[in-house]
Amino acid sequence: MNRIFTLLLATVLVSCQTKEVKTPVVGLTTDNAMVVSAHPLASQAGLSILQKGGNAVDAAIAVQFALAVVHPSAGNIGGGGFMVARFKDGSVDALDYREAAPEKATTNMYIGENGEAISELSTAGHLASGIPGTVAGLEASHKKYGKLDWKELVQPAIDLANKGFTLTEMEADGLNYAAESFKKYSTVAPDQFLKEKWVAGDSIWNKDLGHTLELIRDNGRAGFYEGATAENIVAEMERGNGLISLNDLKGYQAIWRTPLTSEYRGHKIISMPPPSSGGVALIQLLNSVSPYTISEWGWNSAKSAHLMVEAERRAYADRAFYLGDPDFFDVPVTSLIEQSYTDNRMESYNPEAVTPSSAVKEGAIAMTESEQTTHLSIVDKDGNAVSVTTTLNGGYGSRVIVGGSGFLLNNEMDDFSAKPGVPNMYGAIGGEANKIEPGKRMLSSMTPTIVEKDGKILMVVGTPGGTTIITSVFQIIVDVIDHKMGMQEAVNAKRFHSQWLPDVVSNEQGAFTEEDSLQLVKMGHKFRLRGSIGRVDAILVLPDGRLEGGADPRGDDTAVGY
Ligand code: GLY
Repeated sequence: MNRIFTLLLATVLVSCQTKEVKTPVVGLTTDNAMVVSAHPLASQAGLSILQKGGNAVDAAIAVQFALAVVHPSAGNIGGGGFMVARFKDGSVDALDYREAAPEKATTNMYIGENGEAISELSTAGHLASGIPGTVAGLEASHKKYGKLDWKELVQPAIDLANKGFTLTEMEADGLNYAAESFKKYSTVAPDQFLKEKWVAGDSIWNKDLGHTLELIRDNGRAGFYEGATAENIVAEMERGNGLISLNDLKGYQAIWRTPLTSEYRGHKIISMPPPSSGGVALIQLLNSVSPYTISEWGWNSAKSAHLMVEAERRAYADRAFYLGDPDFFDVPVTSLIEQSYTDNRMESYNPEAVTPSSAVKEGAIAMTESEQTTHLSIVDKDGNAVSVTTTLNGGYGSRVIVGGSGFLLNNEMDDFSAKPGVPNMYGAIGGEANKIEPGKRMLSSMTPTIVEKDGKILMVVGTPGGTTIITSVFQIIVDVIDHKMGMQEAVNAKRFHSQWLPDVVSNEQGAFTEEDSLQLVKMGHKFRLRGSIGRVDAILVLPDGRLEGGADPRGDDTAVGY
């Protein structure tokens, strides 16, 4: 009786639909260059830079500054990010501008007197913020690779902040949703973000942010990490009992790292190394499924989905134990991404039934679903490609708006493991590798990735989504390489996610047919139907050399190009 009930419930929860009729959709196609980002005005800012002769790195800088104005839930100057780039000569590079724990941070700073983690402290308010990395990262990328003058790259964002812009429905809803928390956590009334009710079409501007951006335009990183902006951040910290000091700000440095590279069915995968777990886990997932003929098994068939979930279970268990900031913990990257390692891990894979996560590692964890981050993909006319994922962590980060400076601070400290075995806001757990230490960078899932085929760029891809980032990028790569989807088609395709703990598969409606979902339940999978997973922004180089954009219809995401 129980079993029948479970099957019935699964049908209702997982399917509630017949299989989506997959009409091939084609995204914007251009001859020369393309920008895909989470907001039309930010994409436009990047395009204007490309049309002025800027390269992909220049455009990425302009898009990120513009996103800080028009998409404040995730675009930022108060957060951090990662860039993976591949240049026309075939060289690759990766930049880490992840936030870092302040000097005064301590391993047990979120543990209460009863020994339990107080998650509210790491998710909202002043204590939740790491030292922001974005401005340092953008300046470092410009110094090494930029072509146009820095001032030209910051100016579009200044104009948007000072002259104002029109809210989309999604951005208006976001501001309404967060209004009470802005008031609760900011120590200076954040009037620029508040209105009785924002609606699509309203004009909004932010003169304080415009002025901060002018300081950055005129002084580079010193316009943020020193002088008036730094003083405003520290004054905000002092009013709200936060930890970031002038010393923390002045000392922050972006770090150039060697991208991780690997091979998947004749393609080269180029992705972000630690302190992101994204590249390692993505490569582990691709290695885990590469011995199997997923293309013959079909898109999201029970057989393919089962294999992918079993791979995810094992990769996320590794993530929890081995991944952290490589400058503080010896992450065994080389071993983890070896094919023989995943072959061994998959020896326990049973094609007929789940391996319960408790058999891989113990735990029973609840998951919440705030997954704001943002991704941009750019290819310029010379064939340079940039993949950037940047974040405040949760939507609007800590909800603290720096008084007098008009920007939001991140709540990235929640990506550390506050206490071994206690989940963060994504339900992810961690241990020693990702414990809090002063100056350390918290583990990330961000997975900015570039795929190469026969020595040429094939795809630029990434997404927001917390821990679902890795599995979304994984699915996009499998959809394009194994299932021969076009870029927009792959971006539109319904997604699912699992991460070892909690031992459940989340899925968008339409991800599985009724028949496949029943088969998966029989194998032992548990499902949770949820809203959208990820907002993938990607570019595919077509066989004739033209570019196809994939802008995620789950958001305001927009592809532009020429
Ligand atoms: N804060 C989300 C991530 O870095 O994965």
